[in-house]
Amino acid sequence: MSYVTSKLTSLGEKLTEFNYSRYQSVYAQRMSGDIERIIENNSVNMNEAAKLCRMSRNTFKAKYEEAVANGIVPEALLKHNKYLFTLKHMHVLMDYFEIPKWSDKGLKTQVINLQNQKGGTGKSTTATTLAASLAIGLHERMRVLLIDLDPQGSLRNYLLPQENYSTDILTAVDMMLGDEEEEGLYRQYLSQGFTHEEILANSIHETHIPSLHVLPSFSEDERFSQSAWLHYAKTGNLNHVERLKETVIDKVKNDYDVILIDTGPHINPLVWSAQYACDGIVVPFTPRELDWHSTCSFLSNLPINLEMLPNKGENVKWFKCLATNYNIEFGRDKHMMDEARRVLGDNIFSSQLVSSYAFEAAARNQCTIFDIRKVENLCSDKQLDKALTYTETLKDEFLRFLESVSGGEF
Ligand SMILES: Nc1ncnc2c1ncn2[C@@H]1O[C@H](COP(=O)(O)OP(=O)(O)OP(=O)(O)O)[C@@H](O)[C@H]1O
Ligand SMILES: [Mg+2]
Repeated sequence: MSYVTSKLTSLGEKLTEFNYSRYQSVYAQRMSGDIERIIENNSVNMNEAAKLCRMSRNTFKAKYEEAVANGIVPEALLKHNKYLFTLKHMHVLMDYFEIPKWSDKGLKTQVINLQNQKGGTGKSTTATTLAASLAIGLHERMRVLLIDLDPQGSLRNYLLPQENYSTDILTAVDMMLGDEEEEGLYRQYLSQGFTHEEILANSIHETHIPSLHVLPSFSEDERFSQSAWLHYAKTGNLNHVERLKETVIDKVKNDYDVILIDTGPHINPLVWSAQYACDGIVVPFTPRELDWHSTCSFLSNLPINLEMLPNKGENVKWFKCLATNYNIEFGRDKHMMDEARRVLGDNIFSSQLVSSYAFEAAARNQCTIFDIRKVENLCSDKQLDKALTYTETLKDEFLRFLESVSGGEF
């Protein structure tokens, strides 16, 4: 036995005795005061609420009071003698008033994988920002699920603390490996009488945006690829990659309008699972020379990658690149964008996720750019305005794109 092996073996039990609850580890970081502030930041006053419901203030007020009297919605917040309607109030009220939303269009759910094997190209920032921008819009009230398939687990920062929870936080990988693992919480919950569907439902968490849900990941999710390769070595098949679709996506697809899957900068069975489960791939890239070259090589290898999937990638109907961290003031970035447009034709979004300090400030404060208010001074007003304005344009383009790919044959 080598020196290192014997040292680690002697540490063995100490290394595994740390039995932590994921629930506590995640929520210990989220201060309830912060969440209350974010929820309040996203609230609207009576005039704005009436406008969103396309009613006069008096009609809205009367209908709101009727909804409260009927127990449909709790009373709005009262701040400085003024009503504040949270996003949650607005969702319940707008549904009660039967105001149409995105799901009424009868479009097919789009399952979208954000992928680029190059690290740090803005995949997670794009996934979170797009998901939040789609879900926060009260006109659409789009139902969005964000699945974190990157074991780095950055998206769990957005989960909302719950008062009661019947199971600890499980991940997509816990669902995918399921009862094949003898040890572990999934098996334990099954033996307690929970069904797979119940365990999955308990693992999908609410966020401060009512129609945005997150299925988080943890570092232990790395084990999925190892398990898939071991299975491959024994049987010669890579059927593990079908499991995200079968055990997660197919079970919840009808509950959402869009499902976004964030994957890490890898080429492995976990990432292939997202490819197998998705309808389309968004490739975020930064318009810098080295990143663009890596992205080109990723794109040229993608067909080989897709061919390797059990269904030869037939499920993937479209791919589209998206420039991220784009510095509009830099000639250098503009030059790279022109080059990317020349190469990609219409396989690139015309809008970009611009470079703004607001994205970093939001990530540090465990929220999105939509949750920040200028008075909080988390970043300069100029940076926040820039991020919000350009993201709104990107969202509009994305919505039009979703309509075109979800409507009919493509
Ligand atoms: N538009 C932007 N403006 C400013 N900073 C950004 C922007 N997009 C991403 N960043 C920053 O760049 C870094 C990398 O972004 P992100 O984590 O989203 O990339 P990623 O592709 O998910 O990385 P990984 O490959 O490690 O998963 C982060 O620090 C993030 O805050
Ligand atoms: Mg990431």
